[in-house]
Amino acid sequence: MTKPDFLTATRAAYDAVAPRYAEDIPERYRANPFNHAMIPVFVGLIQAHGGGLVADVGCGPGHVTAHLHSLGVTAFGVDLSPEMIGLARSLHPELRFEVGVMDALKVEDAALAGVLANYSIIHTPPERLSATFAEFHRVLAPGGHLLLGFPAYDDATKLAESFDHAVSLAYRYSPDRIAELLLGTGLTEVARLVVSPEEDPKRGFPQAYLLFRRAIVAHME
Ligand SMILES: C[S@@+](CC[C@H](N)C(=O)[O-])C[C@H]1O[C@@H](n2cnc3c(N)ncnc32)[C@H](O)[C@@H]1O
Repeated sequence: MTKPDFLTATRAAYDAVAPRYAEDIPERYRANPFNHAMIPVFVGLIQAHGGGLVADVGCGPGHVTAHLHSLGVTAFGVDLSPEMIGLARSLHPELRFEVGVMDALKVEDAALAGVLANYSIIHTPPERLSATFAEFHRVLAPGGHLLLGFPAYDDATKLAESFDHAVSLAYRYSPDRIAELLLGTGLTEVARLVVSPEEDPKRGFPQAYLLFRRAIVAHME
């Protein structure tokens, strides 16, 4: 089966910028507390639910995977771009990184305690989001957590709007509409953080972080 065009284009674009991205973005991630404000909460909830394996999907050069690892969870990274995965492996040789796509993860059903997608759904066309979220639900164990970070669109009449992202065609999404799609897969909302557009001097977009959980099904004795 051939890859959809958006995956081919996104992979080629990130392969081309990978070294520059790895020099610039991890430092910016560390410098802006909003970028990773929800990560300790995500990790804390995973640990409170017994721990387990966490996938960082669309991991880029692996700095967020390394942050998860530093907080005490067993994390691995998956990315579409072989160049990004090559850099992630050389920058963080102690961690596992794999080339792969987020809507067809090479993971057994219910195998993960957590899925993180930090600014990596931004290249997924709106009509493909439901399939991607269904995949996140499939791989999460009952009680497992999903954290999504993405540039937001503050009008819930619209699911998505494309914007002039420097690397490849990208979208910002309405947090309410994304939450609706996640609820539709059977996940439940735990928390959300929406950062004011004034905090984004470049584009003036709000930044959204949505934390969801796969419900634990109670069995009657
Ligand atoms: C903006 S970067 C974010 C990287 C990292 N998560 C961070 O926070 O800096 C988006 C990354 O997602 C990857 N990506 C985009 N769509 C993907 C998909 N469908 N499956 C796997 N990776 C994808 C890209 O190759 C790129 O490395």
